Amino acid sequence: MNLLIMGLPGAGKGTQAAKIVEQFKVAHISTGDMFRAAIANQTELGLLAKSYMDGGNLVPDEVTNGIVKERLGQEDIKATGFLLDGYPRTIEQAHALDAALAELGISLDGVINIEIDPAKLQERLSGRIIHKATGETFHKVFNPPAEGYNEEDYYQREDDKPESVARRLEVNISQSQPIIEHYRSKGLVHDIEGDQDIEEVYAEIEKVLSNLK
Ligand code: AP5
Ligand code: MG
Repeated sequence: MNLLIMGLPGAGKGTQAAKIVEQFKVAHISTGDMFRAAIANQTELGLLAKSYMDGGNLVPDEVTNGIVKERLGQEDIKATGFLLDGYPRTIEQAHALDAALAELGISLDGVINIEIDPAKLQERLSGRIIHKATGETFHKVFNPPAEGYNEEDYYQREDDKPESVARRLEVNISQSQPIIEHYRSKGLVHDIEGDQDIEEVYAEIEKVLSNLK
């Protein structure tokens, strides 16, 4: 299956992606994770991405389109399928993705659109904690690690500070609607209610994906 997962910052894309990938064995391609890995490795791409990400702005389309196209062209993708998380984020990226997929002879099977009231997102992002050793995402209140936690084993994302969150929401709200409409016109979009428990959100997604298989 070849899928997109869309939703505003904090909607739960990464949380649901981890579950989808585990069950349906598709490759998880998160542009945010790719940029954060490049930052951690202090590559040229990382330096560039950081200058945009810390302020909550988008990395330029030509850079992002390039890394996604390269990843989609790798050997494993045709065998496993993919779940793109956080891409496309502009209508130009959606058009670039259409072109890249056409060139590779791959078609999209569905778009998971997690809907949520933006007013709920600040508390999702301010409480997010990420396990340093495994990269797994939790939430201090909504999804705490089962065994409890030591603060020093977890970190918070640079762009989860309030100033960056406000800008991320502004940028993403203004860009996302045309993208959803683009895929809706192709009959690919499945709307999912994001304001429910993590397991309830996943149950809706699982139903959709089981019907697509
Ligand atoms: P990216 O990493 O994609 O961040 P984002 O879109 O802002 O989304 P998040 O990862 O913050 O949220 P999420 O939806 O994954 O939520 P999560 O599951 O973690 O992008 C970061 C930056 O990189 C961008 O700002 C940009 O600069 C750059 N970038 C990336 N892609 C780009 C592109 N295509 N073009 C240009 N630039 C790009 O959940 C959030 C929290 O809520 C967690 O703590 C979780 O435990 C909790 N939670 C999840 N679900 C629930 C639930 N149902 N109930 C209660 N709590 C929940
Ligand atoms: Mg994410």
